[in-house]
Amino acid sequence: MKVGIIGYGNIGEAMVSGLLNSKTVNPDEILASSRNEKKIRAALDKYHIGITRDNIKVTEFADVLIISVKPLGLASVLEQIKDHISDNTIVVSVVSSVEISEIESIIGDKKIVRVMLNTPVMVNEGMSALCMNQLVNFEEVDEIVALFKSFGKVELVEEKYMEIITAVSGTSPAYVFMMIEAMADGGVMMGLPRRKAYKLAAQSVRGAATMVLESELHPGALKDMVCSPGGSTIDGVYTLENNNFRGTLMKTIREATKKADRLKQKL
Ligand SMILES: NC(=O)c1ccc[n+]([C@@H]2O[C@H](COP(=O)([O-])OP(=O)(O)OC[C@H]3O[C@@H](n4cnc5c(N)ncnc54)[C@H](OP(=O)(O)O)[C@@H]3O)[C@@H](O)[C@H]2O)c1
Repeated sequence: MKVGIIGYGNIGEAMVSGLLNSKTVNPDEILASSRNEKKIRAALDKYHIGITRDNIKVTEFADVLIISVKPLGLASVLEQIKDHISDNTIVVSVVSSVEISEIESIIGDKKIVRVMLNTPVMVNEGMSALCMNQLVNFEEVDEIVALFKSFGKVELVEEKYMEIITAVSGTSPAYVFMMIEAMADGGVMMGLPRRKAYKLAAQSVRGAATMVLESELHPGALKDMVCSPGGSTIDGVYTLENNNFRGTLMKTIREATKKADRLKQKL
């Protein structure tokens, strides 16, 4: 499978790294485009992939064409490449806030997949939610799922959920980083060296998340397992409840969803 990538930025490079590390594709099966000479040289040195300044070359090369430019740059890229997209090419947009129908309004009836992913794709622990139009067949869905599994977990969803997913998995790494920072600050306040505090807090978050994913137990049951009667955890839980921790997070997701909805772009 030949993978083209237009928009070789943070996410574009993270996808290249994941695809190569997992050996899902070989370096000669990737052609990316960049306008930046430094990035072109770095991509050649680090990943040995094909890289060009020419978006049309990438479009004609690709069986799967991933577009990873910022939302404001999407329309001009689509206008530039639209006459070079074959009916068999699967166009995958990881661009936030742009619906499949908007992409169709420029490139017409082509196979289109829309993805909401998050920055942990950079360490192969991403969460990608995928939806597609009706021209993408079951076999092709499996191919795209396999591609995105090379840098994390994948969920197929209906497009109507994309703005909620933007909040729950797209924006949430920021909140978790804030939580890790605050937990570590608390440790430092109580006398723990800072480096150790970050490691202890971050690994605890990773371990807790892995337990939710792997045990399939309710998060509340996992919380109960930590709370011994009269112990220190239940005092911490009380402090969080008293300060509306869960309500604040629910409100955060609601507000981020509303904002994602307002940010939806017409092309
Ligand atoms: N970062 C996140 O957490 C996140 C999460 C979910 C979704 N997304 C989506 O992922 C997409 C990429 O985000 P990012 O963080 O990777 O942004 P980024 O680092 O700014 O990367 C975008 C890249 O697109 C390139 N580009 C722009 N116009 C181009 C054109 N006409 N032809 C070729 N390349 C072009 C830019 O190159 P130059 O440097 O030359 O301008 C840049 O390298 C965005 O649409 C974003 O909404 C991001």
